[in-house]
Amino acid sequence: MQRVFSGIQPSGIPTLGNYLGAIRNWVRLQDDHACLWCVVDLHAITAWQDPAALRRQSLEMAAVLLACGVDPVRHILFLQSGVRAHAQLAWIFNCVARLGWLNRMTQFKDKAGKDRENASSGLYVYPNLMAADIHAYHATRVPVGDDQRQHLELANDIAQKFNHDYGVDFFPNIEPVIVGPAARVMSLRDGTKKMSKSDPSDQSRINLNDDADTIALKIRRAKTDPLPLPSGVEGLNERPEARNLVGIYAALTDTDHASVLKMHGGEGFGPFKSALTALLIDKLAPIAAETDRLLNDPATLMAILRSGAERAAAIADPIVQEAERLVGFVNPGRC
Ligand code: TRP
Repeated sequence: MQRVFSGIQPSGIPTLGNYLGAIRNWVRLQDDHACLWCVVDLHAITAWQDPAALRRQSLEMAAVLLACGVDPVRHILFLQSGVRAHAQLAWIFNCVARLGWLNRMTQFKDKAGKDRENASSGLYVYPNLMAADIHAYHATRVPVGDDQRQHLELANDIAQKFNHDYGVDFFPNIEPVIVGPAARVMSLRDGTKKMSKSDPSDQSRINLNDDADTIALKIRRAKTDPLPLPSGVEGLNERPEARNLVGIYAALTDTDHASVLKMHGGEGFGPFKSALTALLIDKLAPIAAETDRLLNDPATLMAILRSGAERAAAIADPIVQEAERLVGFVNPGRC
């Protein structure tokens, strides 16, 4: 069975976009893969994090993942900082990756912005840590959004250079599992912008812990146009808001735009929004309730994360020790 690894930043309660675009996909991969799911707090501090907020958000993310169906028994859920192997292998990869490679990373340019001199050095070597996350487990399949594709190419370049420089065939090639654009959820206020946690307007997104009234209000206020829903997908061209709401409905019911329009084409937005609201509440209320339950039971949550870290370390430690041996580090603890 192929080993899957993916990471998610502890950047607050996820949105419906994160759920449909990433988390739900993770849950489905669990059926036929051995999976490691990691809350990447080491990556988070590449930008300033208030310590109390980081602590809270790391636990929130773990709770949400569990509530969405991540299985901590058949698979492994853990916090990145709890497994030392990530930072250890990342250091070796800092010495394998070339400055020229990192200089090409578009996400660094976007995140560092104009004030590049003031970006942390961690932000610069972020992709090396990400490569270490994956290679520490010899994982070969990595579900990510399209924005992470370049980082996975870099992870493969690092593996190849390591293998070449040390004359081994140690780190395998990894294959991105890119989540299709079908699951791309856009802002409720502007159908041309991605739904995002960083949008200043909370009305632009559905958060996974929104209660029923909040969901109803946000959908009622969601931007639309004056026309009724078209009866075919061609009618969605040039109507980004209509396309988005139909897309959300399709994703939640596991169908496509065409089938949703077959049922709801010709309807005005009033009735369609009511149907969508009922659907969202039906799918999200259990997630919100379970997240709440876990956050109010820290002992259980901590036990899950402790066991996850132990099982992750049991896989990663021997792999990283072997990498250290290949590099030429002497381990006096082993003969
Ligand atoms: N960089 C990824 C993101 O921001 C998160 C991440 C960290 C990750 N390490 C990873 C994803 C390893 C896949 C594999 O989305």
